[in-house]
Amino acid sequence: MANPSILILPGDGIGAEVMVEVRKIIDWFGANRGLEFDVSEDLVGGAAYDKHGTPLHDDTMAKAQEVDAVLLGAVGGPKYDNLDFSVKPERGLLRLRKEMDLFANLRPAQCFDALADFSSLKKDVVAGLDIVIVRELTSGVYFGEPRGIFEEGNERVGINTQRYTESEIDRAARAAFELARKRNNKVCSMEKANVMESGILWREVVQKVHDEDYPDVELSHMYADNGAMQLVRAPKQFDVILTDNLFGDILSDCAAMLTGSLGMLPSASLGAPMANGRPKALYEPVHGSAPDIAGQGKANPIACILSFAMALRYSFDQGDEATRLEEAVEKVLADGARTADLMGPEGGVPLSTSEMGDAIVAALGESV
Ligand code: NAD
Ligand code: IPM
Ligand code: MN
Repeated sequence: MANPSILILPGDGIGAEVMVEVRKIIDWFGANRGLEFDVSEDLVGGAAYDKHGTPLHDDTMAKAQEVDAVLLGAVGGPKYDNLDFSVKPERGLLRLRKEMDLFANLRPAQCFDALADFSSLKKDVVAGLDIVIVRELTSGVYFGEPRGIFEEGNERVGINTQRYTESEIDRAARAAFELARKRNNKVCSMEKANVMESGILWREVVQKVHDEDYPDVELSHMYADNGAMQLVRAPKQFDVILTDNLFGDILSDCAAMLTGSLGMLPSASLGAPMANGRPKALYEPVHGSAPDIAGQGKANPIACILSFAMALRYSFDQGDEATRLEEAVEKVLADGARTADLMGPEGGVPLSTSEMGDAIVAALGESV
């Protein structure tokens, strides 16, 4: 049987830097665990624009549709700020999500014990935190029509449309309920049903899916602004948070800081099952290309490495190997390994991106 296939799209800025470390991890699993992958690499974002004049070449899109999993670093950067909107690096990523129909974006926020002291929140608020945000990823205000900048009288108007169909809400809700059943069986759905019709429909459909097919899961509803507050006040009250595309984007950056750094948060974007029964999937860190630290060897590669762990679990049925990798990350953190984003005011000499990758590979070596 052919090896499972992975398409790596490093992208821009620190996306490319952290992906070098993921390659080391992939190589380690090939050499030491008999997990061989057919890995290919291509361009996305600004890097693709520089070469092809488009942030995602059609050939790359076609490859992404064929492989078992896509791993993406990050896209964007100030060099591309003034490009026409249609060719901005972010459009490449959005096209991948839309055309692969990756409607369920799982963003786990887990606070490793070693970092509980480091969060900007009090230790007892975050210690032991383990939540997942399920963000609807292919609809809502990111894609709704009409959209654009139009002339209206003697001024311009910028328009985006929040739009959700029942079936889009239904499938995102099912992803959240299924996940909750494998965890602590609780879903909190967040919208703004107090001011938005799309929020009213969201709440109704989530409740209906629950009542018909997941009555065993504990379901609550919360306005998203309160949700943001509760995430900072008492995040451990949550298990799975289900929310729309834009609220999910914002709430997940917020959740990142509960774990210590945005450089810690992985994600899996999953679609419908392919012929082999596995979901169409793209894995990427939650963070961006971090222009402020790009090119300096400062980036924390853990978010991207943990995204590969999610790939092992969700695309390759290698839950035990995923746990092995997560434990290796936990161990290096417990041993005091820190990139600059994880250093407190007491200072010290941080590890570089590649030193952190090497430390995780070394910890993997000790695990066999
Ligand atoms: P960002 O996530 O790139 O950076 C925010 C802050 O977090 C910066 O101070 C950065 O240094 C820090 N940070 C992020 N990841 C880190 C890591 N792994 N290690 C250490 N520090 C880290 O967000 P931004 O600055 O708002 O956006 C920069 C560019 O990235 C923009 O073009 C944006 O559109 C793009 N972006 C892309 C993605 C993606 O590709 N998935 C996600 C978010 C932002
Ligand atoms: C994310 C990013 C993206 C988003 C951008 C880069 C398109 O912020 O993945 O969180 O807004 O979804
Ligand atoms: Mn974001």
